[in-house]
Amino acid sequence: MQKFTIIGGNRLSGEMFLQGSKNSALPIMAAAMLTDGQCVLKNCPALTDVYSASRILNCLGCKCHFSSNCAVIDASGADRGEIPENLMREMRSSIMFMGAILGRIGECIVSVPGGCELGPRPIDMHLAALSRMGAEIFDCGGRIRCRIPSERAKGARISLSFPSVGATENIILCAVKAEGETIIHNAAREPEICDLCGFLRACGANIKGDGESSIIINGVTRLNGCEYTIMPDRIAGATYLAMTAAAGGEIILKNTCTAEMEPFISVLEHTGCGIYTSDNKIYLRRGQRLKAVRDRIRTMPHPGFPTDAQAILMAALVTADGTSVFEENIFDCRYRHTDALIKMGADIQVMGKAAVVRGVPKLHGADVEATDLRGGAAMAVAALAADGVTHLGGISHIDRGYEKFEEAVVSLGGNIRRE
Ligand code: UD1
Repeated sequence: MQKFTIIGGNRLSGEMFLQGSKNSALPIMAAAMLTDGQCVLKNCPALTDVYSASRILNCLGCKCHFSSNCAVIDASGADRGEIPENLMREMRSSIMFMGAILGRIGECIVSVPGGCELGPRPIDMHLAALSRMGAEIFDCGGRIRCRIPSERAKGARISLSFPSVGATENIILCAVKAEGETIIHNAAREPEICDLCGFLRACGANIKGDGESSIIINGVTRLNGCEYTIMPDRIAGATYLAMTAAAGGEIILKNTCTAEMEPFISVLEHTGCGIYTSDNKIYLRRGQRLKAVRDRIRTMPHPGFPTDAQAILMAALVTADGTSVFEENIFDCRYRHTDALIKMGADIQVMGKAAVVRGVPKLHGADVEATDLRGGAAMAVAALAADGVTHLGGISHIDRGYEKFEEAVVSLGGNIRRE
């Protein structure tokens, strides 16, 4: 098993191009299955999750090639609807292929995503919505078989009890080629939903209202291929900003999405960092010790503070002056990184949904293990600011979401080695 050895204490400084968004690339790759031509996805991040999505597409009969941050997908041969168990296990978000497979073939067999790093991840909303669109759903001993008995799925009015990102994506994917109109009320408004819809529109889909809480989709009979550029990764961007804030120094992030990162940036500004944005660039400078964030940091659906940035910001605030309080409202089990931060000298008390972080002057290196993607990135952020050596295991989690992570950190002057 590989690990990172990180020697903390270096100030970070430099410029970097932000990678493409993982959470956009995955549903867009699934969406490519609905098209008849060739799709060329540019700015596609080179990540293990993207490679898994590529393997799933190939297994479903598509031809997917990936090189130099470009995925070329030809779905003309897509004729299979079953995702094998091992591929489902590689990437839990493979559940989002359901809507696309139903739209293309009318029948899919997938596995229930198991209890995962962030707690159980139910798919009840996905299934209830697909069933409203005419899908029949069968439980076959841990596998889910889902079929549309008619020629096409049927448009429906669907009200989500919570604006689930994955459920919104699955509904959109099933609805774009369904018969008639689908309206999603209380839809997720995350920028990656808009990116998915932007891609589908470029293929000929009829979608309105993405980015708002009601999305209206009128089904079409055919989607063509297209060339599309995946949006920048706002969570990877948040990570490199938080890392520089924690270690001290300055960074210019290029090819970012400043408006979409605003919910994160507006909180980070409270720490006393100098942050300037222009067009698609973000400049951050941290001179003095960080200040704690006075207002409770509540994770909420977009445009609230993103749950994916909670651990990452916490890793910077553990050494801030004063007490910061987090409230995790999206996932039940998203404080697993706190044990590692405490081992490194942080003072954190978790009480149900809340985590109280009392800033300490300095962290020290330790042997720690990543248990999930963003929690692992948070440990790397903390280690770069800590005194001494950290051995960080479980880095396959980090490879799921960060392209050439250690190269990016080294380019900023951080001391990190993969072993
Ligand atoms: C996506 C993102 C993930 C991010 C999350 C919230 C991808 C690949 N992943 O995950 O990085 O942290 O959005 O912004 O884009 N829920 C149910 N029933 C359902 C569906 C969801 O109870 O049928 C619950 C979940 O358990 C969770 C909450 O709703 O507590 C939010 O989940 P959701 O928005 O669906 O997240 P994902 O799409 O899994």
